[in-house]
Amino acid sequence: MSTDSTSQGIESTLHENRVFQPPKAGEVGASRWLVESFAEYKSMYDQSIADPESFWATAAEELHWFKKWDGVLEWNAPDAKWFGGGTTNVCYNCVDRQVESGHGDDVAIIWEGEPVDGSGAPVDVRRITYKELQTEVSKLANVLKSKGIGKGDVVTIYMGMVPELAVAMLACARIGAPHSVIFGGFSAQAITDRVQDASSKMIITCDGSWRRGKVVPLKDNVDEAISIMKDSGNQPVEHVLCYGRCHNDIKWGELDRCWNEEMEKASADCPCEQLDSEDMLFLLYTSGSTGKPKGIVHTNGGYMVYTYLTSKYTFNLIPDEKQVYWCTADCGWITGHSYIVYGILPNRVPTVMYEGGPDYPSGARFWQMVDRHKVTQFYTAPTAIRAFMKWGDEHPASCKLDSLQVLGTVGEPINPEAWMWYRNHIGRGVCPIVDTYWQTETGGHVITPLPGATPTTPGSCTHPAFGIDAAVVNTDGEEQPANTGGLMVIRKPWPGMLRGVHGDRQRFIDTYWSTVKINGQPVYTAGDGARRDEHGNFWIMGRIDDVINVSGHRMGTMEVESALVSHESVVEAAVVGMPHEIKGTGIAAFVTPAPGFEASDELIAALREHVGNEIGAIAKPDMIRFTAALPKTRSGKIMRRLLRSIAAGEHEITQDITTLEDFSVVAKLAEKDES
Ligand code: WT7
Repeated sequence: MSTDSTSQGIESTLHENRVFQPPKAGEVGASRWLVESFAEYKSMYDQSIADPESFWATAAEELHWFKKWDGVLEWNAPDAKWFGGGTTNVCYNCVDRQVESGHGDDVAIIWEGEPVDGSGAPVDVRRITYKELQTEVSKLANVLKSKGIGKGDVVTIYMGMVPELAVAMLACARIGAPHSVIFGGFSAQAITDRVQDASSKMIITCDGSWRRGKVVPLKDNVDEAISIMKDSGNQPVEHVLCYGRCHNDIKWGELDRCWNEEMEKASADCPCEQLDSEDMLFLLYTSGSTGKPKGIVHTNGGYMVYTYLTSKYTFNLIPDEKQVYWCTADCGWITGHSYIVYGILPNRVPTVMYEGGPDYPSGARFWQMVDRHKVTQFYTAPTAIRAFMKWGDEHPASCKLDSLQVLGTVGEPINPEAWMWYRNHIGRGVCPIVDTYWQTETGGHVITPLPGATPTTPGSCTHPAFGIDAAVVNTDGEEQPANTGGLMVIRKPWPGMLRGVHGDRQRFIDTYWSTVKINGQPVYTAGDGARRDEHGNFWIMGRIDDVINVSGHRMGTMEVESALVSHESVVEAAVVGMPHEIKGTGIAAFVTPAPGFEASDELIAALREHVGNEIGAIAKPDMIRFTAALPKTRSGKIMRRLLRSIAAGEHEITQDITTLEDFSVVAKLAEKDES
């Protein structure tokens, strides 16, 4: 089985064999752990697997329903209906429920904008209460309605990390208009692909957003996308609503409406729509092995219950305990959906949002924010931790960090060195680390420690979340013995699971439900390789498809290849992952230039720029090498494994990357192995 290079990056180290027992709650300053021992976790877990319907009904009863469900689960693999017949509203549970229970003046969102004053203090800090959030969300929901947006109409959101982004998501949820949030780092072409695929009638954006002292011109990118769509004869957008964030000079076109003006006129009275449990809550585009990014579909009831419950237990969220939760992700990714907004607000613990770069104005920004807001739960990505390690220990050392109780990571396997650094330099050597394994498709955590219950080992995401029947199997669906690699599968449905790929039933079935069958029934295949150790801990070994994990973000190698060959200078391109100190996996591209084009540094720069325009900066190759021909097997398949080892520096061919390389010699040696 081939895995992306991340797995090879995790060397076996001393740390891999170390076991850290969860601390007593008092040792980290928490009043209590919701789950206090591994035995307690195990008995709850066993119950959740033995009788999932009663387990999930109990969880769902902690939330508000307009009408209770008829049945907890209807399962016709691969189609699940959770809480069928029930009606609810996710926005109601995030916002109105808190107001109605007398907590309207509690803080829902703490936001920091990026800019700082001369003394380094942030210029923009906002604390938004549930009551204020309710007013803003209701007004925006009325604005959307006034533009003809109603139940089922997809609204695209392309904004920076400002509270208005959460307001936009919640306003959509309030009226049953599924949102499709696009990460602000994506290009005009990427916006185009997603808006067209979703036939989205409306885009909500900002004039710009601050990132490392510069304005990201979000509205300009939207304008460009609209013009690309017009030219292609498929332009579904009727309105562009633009929030003014940084006084960036923008052009107002005929579709454009000003958020700030519209909100002034709007009424704050907009009751929540009573939505069916299985109505679509949102679409979120993510990369796959082939083709364009696919729109993953999540629905109201199951996703709400799943993200609520996993948030509560994974992070030990308890209201009225002065907790402050901060996830550093962007709402453009599933992590921001589930663990900044939808899972956290119903738990009534303030959620922190930060607009800008982690090293602006210095590498101490995050740690100063932890101290400033007395953050108790902190959730970030291994790639960020590796960057902090590089920026120097003096940054966290300059801060107290004594409010922290629980640390989390997500997005990619964490190398044990980074895990230990995180524990020692951020977690005072005592905070438990929850390494949460999950995917856009799973909606929420599927394998994770619980901070007060699970013994942890650096590099392992440990044990399944409640209700998750996770296993490592071979292609016949048989469980692998301990410490043997296999496919990561989930054998039972769970409430947060994806309900489909927007507009592409076949892709849904082919991607997730066709690789492994057990007793003739399809089971969910995650696309990751994994093993379980002798203690039952899961170790994720990396993607087994043509997807690479760059800084915790999923990137299809084929997407990058298509972007490269759409440049006039490229005849053929192959993209593979390569080990990267900070990103975990970097992008390596092998390119055959078209006649008349010379391998050169200028061409490398032009190709990187081109990929940035086609997809976004995160897709720019870290390394581009030119070759007269790509190494292929006799049957014509590109030898990716060989390219991976060349990219990793395991085969030295030439040192000068600007001359055309000839891989035919190594290819001959590798042929038997590849085919
Ligand atoms: C892929 C999903 C889940 C939100 C962020 C990424 C990898 C994710 C871990 C982890 C090892 C991880 C997997 C997975 N991944 N978390 N804790 N340990 N690998 O979401 O873009 O849908 O990517 O990220 O390969 O399949 P995504």
